[in-house]
Amino acid sequence: MRIVFYAGKGGVGKTSISAATGIKAAEMGYKTVVMSLDVAHSLSDIFDLQRGLLDQNKGKPIHVHKNLWIQELDIHEEIDRNWRDIHKYLSMLLRTTGLDEILAEELAILPGMEEVSLLLYINRYVKGNEFDVIILDCAPTGESIRFISIPTALEWYIKKLFKMEKTLAKYVGPVARRVYDVPIPGDEYFDAIEYLFDRLNGVDQILIDPKITTVRLIANPEKVVLKETQRAFMYFSLYRIHIDAIIMNRVLPESLNDQYFQQWRESQQYYLEKAKEYFSPIPVFPVKLFREEVLGYESLRKLSKQIYGDKNPLGHLFEGEPYRWIKENGEYRLSIRLPFASKDGVELNKISDELIIRVGAFKRQVLLPRHVAAAKSVKARLEGQDLCVYFKGGEDHEQKRK
Ligand SMILES: Nc1ncnc2c1ncn2[C@@H]1O[C@H](COP(=O)(O)OP(=O)(O)O)[C@@H](O)[C@H]1O
Ligand SMILES: [Mg+2]
Repeated sequence: MRIVFYAGKGGVGKTSISAATGIKAAEMGYKTVVMSLDVAHSLSDIFDLQRGLLDQNKGKPIHVHKNLWIQELDIHEEIDRNWRDIHKYLSMLLRTTGLDEILAEELAILPGMEEVSLLLYINRYVKGNEFDVIILDCAPTGESIRFISIPTALEWYIKKLFKMEKTLAKYVGPVARRVYDVPIPGDEYFDAIEYLFDRLNGVDQILIDPKITTVRLIANPEKVVLKETQRAFMYFSLYRIHIDAIIMNRVLPESLNDQYFQQWRESQQYYLEKAKEYFSPIPVFPVKLFREEVLGYESLRKLSKQIYGDKNPLGHLFEGEPYRWIKENGEYRLSIRLPFASKDGVELNKISDELIIRVGAFKRQVLLPRHVAAAKSVKARLEGQDLCVYFKGGEDHEQKRK
């Protein structure tokens, strides 16, 4: 079983690269599904599928080639399948505020429903052994980051709030129904949530198991894109989801010597080097800009050849965690595995939300989580093979809440 996520900013090439990888996996003989969470679905366009076929399948996997399926989640179908009772209650609740029925139904689509639906599929496919390989074409970075935090957030919700709500509904319900017009959720609402939660059970373990799941971040060699990629890198590391490659897509080919592109080429080279610096020791794979849009099976095959060459695209392109965040007694610690044991002095430099670490010739640039960036004191110590960086005196939300 292998799950590979492709994440990155909109337009960098996630859908094309997911499809290309899926094609290669299927050719290698693995039963593969490429799933898309991007609302601007384009998997079906890339494979040139007829509208009719999509309409018939409504969010279910579509067989497109030997061993290869694609699946584009359709939120309205998902509501029907998984969220009916929850959605019904929420729309009813919203309508009591005087909202128009159609608007209420639309607003009752909560952020996260699509992502949870996707997690349900992952769990089902893994547990039922339905596919050998799951490739995920994630939504643009911001949303895919929210998606990885869902299992943790849900667990909290179910354990704390949900029990409280349920008890409240039981005791307050009959009274409230007589006094106010606000509908109180019925048993079917709670049962539906509980049922959903049951089916999500264990998915967080699948996501953080590096033998099964790895993330590949896709970027273009440009300043703005790279910054967002660093941020994604930090979040995936915070959630302990392993990143095994960075793909730098749309690199202008060297054969292009038109004066007009000279500056573009130079700046791309600069940001390619920067990427290696930021993400080392995770390998960076440059992929050149094709002559035209990447459409259709042959073009996608070429793309996968460009990315992986002779490497196995399902292999673990990098093993190990380059760094790890640990929170202990309200304080944050960053633990970085050094490739060598060094007696050289450690030099730390914090510039706004970035920390630059130098140990001899070793240099690492780490983007800091917001809580940590506010720290007043930063100290480092070598502990065995790890360099531990301690942050103190930052803004601590938990303390503030008290
Ligand atoms: N290496 C490349 N060379 C040429 N065109 C590319 C390349 N990678 C992606 N594209 C094109 O860029 C557009 C956006 O790619 P897409 O995969 O849809 O990005 P995303 O899913 O990240 O939004 C598509 O038209 C795609 O064909
Ligand atoms: Mg896309």
